[in-house]
Amino acid sequence: MSATADTPRTAVVTGANKGIGRGITRRLAELGMRVYLGARDEERGLAAERELRADGLDVRFLHLDVTDETSVAQAAKRLEEEVSHLDALVNNAGVGGSALPPSQVPVAEVRRTYETNVFGVIAVTNALLPHLRRSPAGRIVNISSVLGSLTHAAALEDPTGVFPPGVFPALLEYNTSKAALNAVTVTYANELRGTGILVNAVSPGFVATDINGHRGVLTPEEGARIPVLLATLGEDGPTGTFVGEDATPTGQQLSW
Ligand SMILES: NC(=O)c1ccc[n+]([C@@H]2O[C@H](COP(=O)([O-])OP(=O)(O)OC[C@H]3O[C@@H](n4cnc5c(N)ncnc54)[C@H](OP(=O)(O)O)[C@@H]3O)[C@@H](O)[C@H]2O)c1
Repeated sequence: MSATADTPRTAVVTGANKGIGRGITRRLAELGMRVYLGARDEERGLAAERELRADGLDVRFLHLDVTDETSVAQAAKRLEEEVSHLDALVNNAGVGGSALPPSQVPVAEVRRTYETNVFGVIAVTNALLPHLRRSPAGRIVNISSVLGSLTHAAALEDPTGVFPPGVFPALLEYNTSKAALNAVTVTYANELRGTGILVNAVSPGFVATDINGHRGVLTPEEGARIPVLLATLGEDGPTGTFVGEDATPTGQQLSW
């Protein structure tokens, strides 16, 4: 490892060229972190990097397609060369689904969604864990959704108030991929208990981004609030929790 011991606090955010990921990148960098802005498309990644660096932030484009093992390995290698450790990994990259009734969804669509929302998170986490283990306070934040909650789906009840009582969209690929991501979160949290690495899932709220045709009500910066809190938790912070955006300072605990 050629990185020096005086590397600043460092974070990686996946899918950070736009939307909530860019909001998280901005807020972490404003807190003084060096943030690697993960993006699968070089042009879009560099454009976002330019925009944030113009505001004086230490943001560096990191080429990272979470579904491409070579890309993931190259990103891990670059970090190995540039930083002594990684303090926060925000697994934000995500895709929506077809919005078809579950019984009509082609299984290929389900696989495609899981490649990014589930397998991509596992691939990136495993590749970057050695870097996180070298941090005195490694944090992993998985950007999930209340739509991944089995408890709330079964009760047809959305505790975040986006959908009226009795309505819970049945989005097969998206909801089940986020439910799997929630399971991934708890599983890593349990493996890493006692190591100092805290692993939590977030539902960022209903945010106006491309994924929902900008129908959300929060800005990406507002949606970044809870992810940033969890990415910068103190050493006595929680692990294995699922936190949703709300009006309170630390968000609401959601049921899995
Ligand atoms: N918006 C909401 O209301 C809401 C609510 C709950 C949860 N979420 C979650 O929040 C996260 C961010 O979504 P968003 O709302 O900000 O949507 P968005 O604006 O569509 O952003 C999604 C990001 O993920 C990236 N991405 C997709 N596939 C990727 C891959 N294979 N490798 C690397 N990056 C990839 C996209 O890159 P490209 O630009 O290259 O496509 C984009 O940067 C997602 O996990 C989403 O499920 C959003």
